[in-house]
Amino acid sequence: MRTIITLDGPGGVGKGTVAKLLAEKYNLQHLDSGAVYRLCALHLQDCLLFDASELEQVAEVFKMKFEFKNGKFFSAGVEIPEERLRSEFTAQAASQIAVKPKIRAALLQWQRNYGGEENLVADGRDMGTVVFPDAQLKFFLDADAKIRAKRRFEQLKKQGENVSLAALEREISERDKRDRNRETAPLKPAADAIVIDTTDLSVNAVLDKVVERCQVFFN
Ligand code: C5P
Repeated sequence: MRTIITLDGPGGVGKGTVAKLLAEKYNLQHLDSGAVYRLCALHLQDCLLFDASELEQVAEVFKMKFEFKNGKFFSAGVEIPEERLRSEFTAQAASQIAVKPKIRAALLQWQRNYGGEENLVADGRDMGTVVFPDAQLKFFLDADAKIRAKRRFEQLKKQGENVSLAALEREISERDKRDRNRETAPLKPAADAIVIDTTDLSVNAVLDKVVERCQVFFN
């Protein structure tokens, strides 16, 4: 049976970076579920489908067309440039389609099948609550909203995206509100999740805390 570790939390909390490092350390498959919702949003935009009912029908059809290979992301065989995938514009679009139950349902099995029988670390919003409720180990990372906006700001700057910190603070808090308050699979810790406040912690300090709990499964 494969071992599954889940890492959930709001935007800018550092879960993606920690998941990536954990995957490297223990040779795990890494499901970046935020990228799935981002790819989905971009695909729908590219098809110029803005009507909600159309979006839901199409979700059923295109769900098999995503691929993650060697740190690159493909939609229907076409590589999606990292800066487009990771832009704040795409994040907002992703969080708007992510409220739709039919879209979430269409993506559920794809996420569960990801990595086949291999050990997996999955990061996102509902990994521990909905997608992998039986995961062996669940974490929920949280941090002060201003710190998260600052981290995202630095990340976007590195990617070459020009965005003001104040605008980003507003956008992140809007996205948080939408993610936490939606009816289907809202952002919240699983009842059995280990909660880590990363406000005053470096990435390595968070990784150490996570590794401490994972050792029992991988050593
Ligand atoms: O994690 P990331 O910032 O890439 O996610 C973008 C958006 O995708 C989130 O704001 C959220 O609305 C949505 N998402 C989700 N469920 C997940 C992962 C992401 O609803 N498991």
